[in-house]
Amino acid sequence: MRVHVFETSDDLGRAVAARVGDELRRNPSAVLGLATGGTPLATYGELRRMHAAGLIDFSPATTFNLDEFAGIDASHSGSFRRYMDVKLFDSVNLDAHRIHFLNGVADDLDVECERYEKEIEHAGGIDLQMLGIGANGHIGFNEPDETLAARTHRVQLHDQTRRDNAAAFGGDLSRVPTEALSMGMGTILKSRAIVLMAIGARKARCVERAVNGPITTRLPASFLQLHRDVELFLDRGASSLLVRPA
Ligand code: PGA
Repeated sequence: MRVHVFETSDDLGRAVAARVGDELRRNPSAVLGLATGGTPLATYGELRRMHAAGLIDFSPATTFNLDEFAGIDASHSGSFRRYMDVKLFDSVNLDAHRIHFLNGVADDLDVECERYEKEIEHAGGIDLQMLGIGANGHIGFNEPDETLAARTHRVQLHDQTRRDNAAAFGGDLSRVPTEALSMGMGTILKSRAIVLMAIGARKARCVERAVNGPITTRLPASFLQLHRDVELFLDRGASSLLVRPA
């Protein structure tokens, strides 16, 4: 894994956005895997700025988001689809037909997961997958467990993860869905390149274990050690437990 460390979250966001820009210059019709949460906010801010300045063209690109809550639709203010509309999609020239999302209110959620998996395959697979990491080492909604699902699947959310997401539901834990849909670890590991971002000392322990620890379903991010093209974009806090060469 290649590790890049930045002084501020804005610096980190600019670097990840530049990485996305490079990908789209090399391969304008790239398939991007996108993440939500607090960590990518600076990246999306920079991508909006780059697009407004004419520095990046999304028109031939395709996107797949990592995960979505079950039981709420795309227009719900807490949905990841709404987050993406506000933070990126409404401000850039992505073709709406090439934006892909899991539908958390599909009639049959298992069928929905299989549809998503097939759509990723049909698009030729993901070229560049952006990831955040949970303080418990989760990736997407792949929570630490005895086993991990390989393919896109339904997930029962851990209480900590629901608490971490409560702000988008007015701070009311009872309104946070208990279930979600998520790409599986196998789906994620099939991406050609992976960029994992982490900000803050709260993430330092799981980052250190993901990089140096054993590969274990108890820390889903540790599976990234199996991938040949993973870059970590960290701030000082998140990198603070990594021993780096002097
Ligand atoms: P965060 O979430 O970016 O809001 O810290 C990351 C995650 O839980 O995957």
